[in-house]
Amino acid sequence: MNKDEIVYYLKTTSEEEKKYLFRRADEIRETYCGNEVHIRGIIEFSNYCIRDCTYCGLRKSNRKLHRYRMTIQEIFEVAKKAKEMDFKTVVLQSGEDPYYRIEDLCLLTEKIKTELNLAVTVCIGERTREEYRMMREAGADRYLLKFETSDPVLYARLKPDSSYENRFRCLEWLRELGYQVGSGNMVGLPGQTIESLAEDILLFKELDLDMIGIGPFIPHPDTPLRNTKTGTLDMTLKVLAITRIVTKNTHLPATTAVGTIDLFGRQKALQCGANVIMPNVGPQRYRKDYQIYPNKICIFENADHCHSCIEEMIESLGRTVSSGFGHSLKMRMKDSTAICRKYLSSRIISR
Ligand code: 5AD
Ligand code: FES
Repeated sequence: MNKDEIVYYLKTTSEEEKKYLFRRADEIRETYCGNEVHIRGIIEFSNYCIRDCTYCGLRKSNRKLHRYRMTIQEIFEVAKKAKEMDFKTVVLQSGEDPYYRIEDLCLLTEKIKTELNLAVTVCIGERTREEYRMMREAGADRYLLKFETSDPVLYARLKPDSSYENRFRCLEWLRELGYQVGSGNMVGLPGQTIESLAEDILLFKELDLDMIGIGPFIPHPDTPLRNTKTGTLDMTLKVLAITRIVTKNTHLPATTAVGTIDLFGRQKALQCGANVIMPNVGPQRYRKDYQIYPNKICIFENADHCHSCIEEMIESLGRTVSSGFGHSLKMRMKDSTAICRKYLSSRIISR
């Protein structure tokens, strides 16, 4: 699909065309990824953040949020529990919180890798190249860093204290260091156009990502974007389906955010392109405070409940729970670092 076709399908209101799009995405998912769904357990270990993104409930200016940090030992105990529950991957996720020294996160990663044999995904925001290198050396397999929007003007409005250039530099470093790289966007951001969503999808392809997280924007009452509209299920599913059609063998999660705006959002996502699901494995007592956006699902549930809920969901859709690590499906024959560099030089440095 070229940009015009992507824009066309993002705009279509025809039920027939949407059905076609979703069916095609489901077929491509089956051909390239099979019927397995990969379950990754998220550990939200700290809700402290030094950034002030205008869309996010964890932003540092939000004084209403009760902040918490788990200790390294506590995080390891949760990983151990995830292992006992048969998870194959844990995602270590937090706000941007420099309180955690990279040496300690490395020791934690090494311990999870050697003692538990779990795949480790890291999602702690922008760090230095050296810090990424140390984490990789300690055994981290994957890194998630969403670019949120490909539009540099919108980006600057959403992340006033961050740099668009640096975000992409980080993605380039992660690739160079041999991580499986995940990124993604939000759908329905205030000021986001259909054309800009089409650019997001083209950029997903250009960056040759291993994983892409796509979720609706949900306004948080304690942020500057409190009076804006929620992204729609319809547009989120279209972006997801087209991303599957365009990127073929990428891991695409049915996000918690899509499950938040629609009771069956995650099931619908799994039926139009998604092949991954990421339930929370952390203890129930911290969940209500990881309020990136309001009404987040699974706040009152514990890890066991979510795990069985997800297994039932997968089986009810006629799919199977993957028994492998669910590593990247991409074969990296070509020099993917060069692609990121080309992107940087053509789209950013020349700007
Ligand atoms: N609505 C939806 N998603 C959000 N995120 C952050 N804030 C919101 C919001 N208000 C997403 C971003 C971020 C991820 C952790 O959560 O995409 O990368
Ligand atoms: Fe938490 Fe369903 S995933 S209750």
